[in-house]
Amino acid sequence: MRPVDIIIKKRDGLELSPAEIRFFIEGYTSGAITDYQASAWAMAVLLNGMTDRETTELTLAMAASGETLDLTGVVDFALDKHSTGGVGDKTTLVVEPIVSACGLRVGKMSGRGLGFSGGTLDKMESIPGFRTNLSKEEFLLQLKEVGLVLTGQTDDLAPADGKLYALRDVTGTVDALPLIASSIMSKKIAAGAQRMVLDVKVGVGAFMKNLDQARALARIMVKIAKRVNRKAVALLSNMNQPLGNAVGNALEVKEAIDTLQGGGPKDFREHCLQVAGNLLLLGEAAGTLRAAKQRAAAALEDNFAFERFRQLVIAQGGDVSYVDEPAKLPSAQFIEEVPSPRAGYLKWIDAKEVGETSVELGAGRLKKGAPIDHAVGIVVHHKVGDKVEKGEPLFTLHANDKTKLTFARKRILAAHKWSPKKVKPLPLFYGSVK
Ligand code: URA
Repeated sequence: MRPVDIIIKKRDGLELSPAEIRFFIEGYTSGAITDYQASAWAMAVLLNGMTDRETTELTLAMAASGETLDLTGVVDFALDKHSTGGVGDKTTLVVEPIVSACGLRVGKMSGRGLGFSGGTLDKMESIPGFRTNLSKEEFLLQLKEVGLVLTGQTDDLAPADGKLYALRDVTGTVDALPLIASSIMSKKIAAGAQRMVLDVKVGVGAFMKNLDQARALARIMVKIAKRVNRKAVALLSNMNQPLGNAVGNALEVKEAIDTLQGGGPKDFREHCLQVAGNLLLLGEAAGTLRAAKQRAAAALEDNFAFERFRQLVIAQGGDVSYVDEPAKLPSAQFIEEVPSPRAGYLKWIDAKEVGETSVELGAGRLKKGAPIDHAVGIVVHHKVGDKVEKGEPLFTLHANDKTKLTFARKRILAAHKWSPKKVKPLPLFYGSVK
């Protein structure tokens, strides 16, 4: 077999055989297939798609590209959550501690920023000292002893995804349904997850732009989970406007801490309760979703979830004084509050524009492996449906470069649209797939 023939076959819209898929993934993992060949192949997949059979084979090949973790003996059943990627999506930072505060062990392997969407690891690294590169042994020990882990994918778990993920981020090949499904599910399978909540984002600030695409992604992921005897629930959630208010690494950590202490933006808090509730239900910590959400809310009110977050940071070498005093987190040199240029009801806050502008400010990467600026980002002060007066604060920019700040101001102003008439708030969820 030759890599170029597999690229050509996909370029021509033909279905790859399981053997071809395995050959390509094994070759890319070992280095026999180069980044430029994998980029061309990923672009062909993006343009021509894959059948369910190909996507499933791709997932299994990626999961088998390294070691797999067996968590039996450490937990009764391994719980996990994963988001397909959004703007302002700091859900894991709140949901994991909630679930842990409700008595379930949860160990998660997260990713870095991808395209315009932020990454949990980048966010957590805003806390000085916080390690996101735990070894497999450290992961298992912490899961057993602390009951809560949040780390990066180890190099030996689904290494094919580790390589492809970073490559897709900088080659315009992120928003391909088969690549997203296989990326997420290969990691979940390799990391030993047995029951999982998949947060499938839909809207301009998501990789799936409409409900049909999001449902298709949710269905294939749930189908793959069943094929390997795991249980998955996919929630379809709105990503047309940023989730919560903050976009940017340290800014999102601050918002997550605020939420863990019982505050935080209403939409973000409700989103977290829904995701945590579904996890608690899967983890048999409650009999109904309603009861599960009540338990989750109580964990926030009682500060138990916040305390679990502190324990997590301490366990992974982070300086917990930054959690206790979030004002110490990295802060930008230029902070500018931008007033609303007009009065009216907000009818649109383009999440993708906000995400991309945040990347431009330095919060994400334009090149594989590039450093990021934890301090920069954007805080929007309103949600779609809000009535805003002229001159009222509309958003705040956090920048370390004046030129970028000017550019961001223009772009975020243009991302807001008003209506003279009342506008309905956006729904948070569009249902689920089981
Ligand atoms: N999250 C992932 O882990 N992979 C993707 O491709 C998209 C979101």
